[in-house]
Amino acid sequence: MNSKKVYIETYGCQMNLADSEVVASLLQDDGYEFTNSLEDADIALVNTCSIRDHAEQRVIGRLGEFRRRKSDNPDMVIGVLGCMAERLRSKLIDQLKLVDIVVGPDEYRKLSGLISAAFEGEKGIAVKLSRVENYDDIIPLRTEGVSAWVSVMRGCDKFCTFCVVPYTRGRERSRTLHNVVREVEQLVEHGFREVTLLGQNVNSYRDGDFDFADLLMSTARIDSNLRVRFTTSHPQDMSYKLINAIGEYENICSYIHLPVQSGSDRILTLMNRTYTIEHYLRLVDKIKSTVPGVGLSTDIIAGFPTERGEDHRATLDILEKVRFDGAFMFKYSPRENTKAWNMGDDVPDDIKSRRLNEIIDLQRTISLEINKGMIGQTYRVLVEGTSKKSDSYFMGRTDTNKTVIFPEGDFKVGDYITVKIYDANSATLFGHVVTKAGWVDVRIAVVA
Ligand code: 5AD
Ligand code: SF4
Repeated sequence: MNSKKVYIETYGCQMNLADSEVVASLLQDDGYEFTNSLEDADIALVNTCSIRDHAEQRVIGRLGEFRRRKSDNPDMVIGVLGCMAERLRSKLIDQLKLVDIVVGPDEYRKLSGLISAAFEGEKGIAVKLSRVENYDDIIPLRTEGVSAWVSVMRGCDKFCTFCVVPYTRGRERSRTLHNVVREVEQLVEHGFREVTLLGQNVNSYRDGDFDFADLLMSTARIDSNLRVRFTTSHPQDMSYKLINAIGEYENICSYIHLPVQSGSDRILTLMNRTYTIEHYLRLVDKIKSTVPGVGLSTDIIAGFPTERGEDHRATLDILEKVRFDGAFMFKYSPRENTKAWNMGDDVPDDIKSRRLNEIIDLQRTISLEINKGMIGQTYRVLVEGTSKKSDSYFMGRTDTNKTVIFPEGDFKVGDYITVKIYDANSATLFGHVVTKAGWVDVRIAVVA
């Protein structure tokens, strides 16, 4: 038994959140305790993201804060986990002298041993990628809640030319359907009401003859009151079988995150995205006709190498054609060792910014129009917790992944309620709770 306290901070995608829960589970098995405060920590870990330079700079800044703590407490062990560990390896120890251990995404089973060695003054690096490690046998350590992340596959084989993920997280590998289903069954027993099946490229999941649609349907059949979500999908692997499953099962949420990245076929080819805009639009038509009222979101990159005005206009055009509910929009960030790195970064930063702003403005207008169109309608919402801004307001999401804010009432976290929308902005809906008996609370307040 050791009573050393671990503090973990997580950056980046949901996969990283899920990985931090795996790390916590492994460390708990070895007797470590956890703290939410850096001040109390004997071991400070940061689980990192390398997707864009900005993400890495944030972590480097944060490590400066860790260094200040270490000067008060020289025995503290500092560890870098995740994608930056994989990408920068020993550079993290050589250049940022304060780091004691560096552990890549496939080596978390070694973490505990490396921490023990670090307390003896030995710096440690474990960054080998694996073709098989999927932590299938580890039950992640989750805090109680309504909604859980369940990682079902790791890595990515797509090699989009802008992306570091295939290098930092390695080749695709899937967990067994059996173990994922068993984990979700346990989550249901513990009171969770929603799971999100996660993978960098989740719909290329495969376990023998089972594909992602089979996994999704098996998960949905566990409990019809359990909401099932998934992310992230690649357009190439978005099969009709999968779309039909989403349409058929009431509790598979009508929401798909389907990154398009650019509206220009020329740029898509340079990105190695393996689809054309025509194919993407056909897919969207199929999705919209099979899953009525579906929520759709996407990722867009502005200023990819060689992008010209006409390519940018094609991106604005696809936003108008699809009318996504929301989008994550980024400026292209060159990443060393990717194919796009060698294409140069020839779109000047001011043009990238201008294009990104045009994309954001257009998407915001579309999101606002869609959300305003929901005013007066009622939706089934899963109550997830109190609103960030006020304890007397709660938040939940619709089936289509829209965030709704509503006043407290005769319900508790984890309940499904019906909410009538009375106002909306581009990101959030505001509603009153409706029960069979009528209004629970009709106070109108502005929360925004
Ligand atoms: N620059 C900008 N955005 C990127 N993404 C991935 N790599 C880069 C990069 N080098 C975006 C993509 C991806 C999302 C997770 O991050 O849009 O879908
Ligand atoms: Fe990166 Fe493309 Fe894989 Fe997504 S599909 S993780 S963008 S390489």
